[in-house]
Amino acid sequence: MFSKIKTWRTLVNSGIMKKKELQNEFHVFFLGILYSVLKQEGWFDFLKTSRTPNDIMDQFHYSEPELINEILDILVSENIIKKTPRNGYEVINIEHEPVIVKPALFSDTYYNLWKTYGEALPNRLRGNFMKYTQGQNSGNWEDALKSPFYNSMREASFAFVNFKKKPFRLLDVGSGIGASTAQLWNHLYQKQIISEETIIYGLEPDEKFLHIAIHKNIEVLHFFNNKINLDELKKMQDFFPHFKQGSALKIPFDDNTFDYVYTSHMLYLTDPRKALAEILRVTKPNGTIFGTQAFLSKPYTHIWSLFMKVIEGANGYFTKKELAQWAKEAGGKDVAFATPVVFKFRKNSN
Ligand SMILES: C[S@@+](CC[C@H](N)C(=O)[O-])C[C@H]1O[C@@H](n2cnc3c(N)ncnc32)[C@H](O)[C@@H]1O
Repeated sequence: MFSKIKTWRTLVNSGIMKKKELQNEFHVFFLGILYSVLKQEGWFDFLKTSRTPNDIMDQFHYSEPELINEILDILVSENIIKKTPRNGYEVINIEHEPVIVKPALFSDTYYNLWKTYGEALPNRLRGNFMKYTQGQNSGNWEDALKSPFYNSMREASFAFVNFKKKPFRLLDVGSGIGASTAQLWNHLYQKQIISEETIIYGLEPDEKFLHIAIHKNIEVLHFFNNKINLDELKKMQDFFPHFKQGSALKIPFDDNTFDYVYTSHMLYLTDPRKALAEILRVTKPNGTIFGTQAFLSKPYTHIWSLFMKVIEGANGYFTKKELAQWAKEAGGKDVAFATPVVFKFRKNSN
């Protein structure tokens, strides 16, 4: 119970939960992109007359009926179009067209990243995926992954776990540029939990990200630990995190290797069920799995999730209930959530 309060307090103190209008800002932003992308495609002119999903597929040469239905559902729930008889859809005359407004919490770089993913939607509707970092400036991702938006959620997830002061092995799955690994390392360092026998690994499939994580390891660590002077930090090089290339779908470590497995904003970018099974495989019995990510529930997460599906291999967001079910199916127990974005569970003892 106490760790739940600590987790909430960490997130509230970061400012991320303070703004009641935050979710509304996300919603306005993602709806604005969706509307502008579909308008440019010609959807709203075409839907001046009632059309079925098949008509839309034929008109725009699309190949993905599931995604079309998902978009139509979103547009109906946003009162932009309405259902008509015989599986038809027709535009409603709206007073104010949705416009794209950057949420205050988004850095310019993060805003640009999501605009680019959103603009890839028409291509995706024609069956073409994009790779996670393809066509994106990796400097933008580097900047975004060090921004308060991610930092505050990660810090909250650390507060949910009671780390034992004994040597342990920890894996960060989907470690990106190493920001999550560095922030976690810093958290443990501040708590004086890092020792010579502590082993921390970051696992990342993307070469561009991995390159940054390896070659800017000390820079990223210093970013999260700027109270220590750089020369002092350099003396601790032997305890720094290690990085390895690999996917959550085939984790290149033996069964029962890690006491803790962390994953931040990664599960929705892959097959979450398979990834959870792999994560549990490499966790020691009774070991702890913890992390952070948004879950499907609020309207903005539906549109955000839709844009996520332009990325090759991405599942998109899912619910807390699904995470709990998949974790248990794969041998997890004690699944718990704190705040809208933090989770943890343990591996069964046998
Ligand atoms: C939003 S970034 C978060 C990175 C990092 N966890 C952090 O918090 O800074 C998502 C990361 O998940 C990685 N990812 C995507 N699919 C993955 C998979 N199948 N296995 C491992 N990582 C994956 C991406 O390459 C990317 O680095």
